[in-house]
Amino acid sequence: MDVTVVDHPLARARLTTLRDERTDNASFRGALADLTQMLIYEALSGAPVADVEITTPVATMTGAKLANPPLLVPVLRAGLGMVEQAHAMVPESNVGFVGIARDEQTHQPVPYLESLPDDLSRTPVFVLDPMLATGGSMLHTIELLVGRGAVDITAVCVVAAPEGVSALAESGHPVRLVTAAVDDGLNDNAYIVPGLGDAGDRQFGPR
Ligand code: URA
Repeated sequence: MDVTVVDHPLARARLTTLRDERTDNASFRGALADLTQMLIYEALSGAPVADVEITTPVATMTGAKLANPPLLVPVLRAGLGMVEQAHAMVPESNVGFVGIARDEQTHQPVPYLESLPDDLSRTPVFVLDPMLATGGSMLHTIELLVGRGAVDITAVCVVAAPEGVSALAESGHPVRLVTAAVDDGLNDNAYIVPGLGDAGDRQFGPR
């Protein structure tokens, strides 16, 4: 599986803000939006473009547009903090939604919402979820997408655990990962270490 770690100095600085326990919810949301911009920029770096003929105030020329804008799929709740910025970067995109809670006892994903187009066979998909921990929620989402024919899936995450990266790689699904960091691992509660805590709570407060 292709894994891209965005370690631009600005990405590292925003990630440090996210990790710092002193960062309040509003500042966390701001840093997450900034970092999402960098991750989406990187995720689209090899995207095909189509020619567009335009006229500038001076001359005619051939410009470019995204040939096939990705469907953006935030995984609720934590992915909500990424979708507005991602959509601002790619206003041509459509947006689908997947809602997955996490059972705090078993650490298993508990799906509660699925709002996706029926046919994704010709659409690249960017799944937006800040934390790739065990990979359970991401794999559930990817299986929903593959079930609709998706063959080009990008997991856009802020922090990944090696366990989650392995789970995606071993799934055999057509997925690549763009992330700002691959951390040390998971603790007994399946939180990423050092990580940044609960990405949903840190944006929106505790449930
Ligand atoms: N989900 C989170 O929000 N944080 C983690 O560390 C793991 C899963």
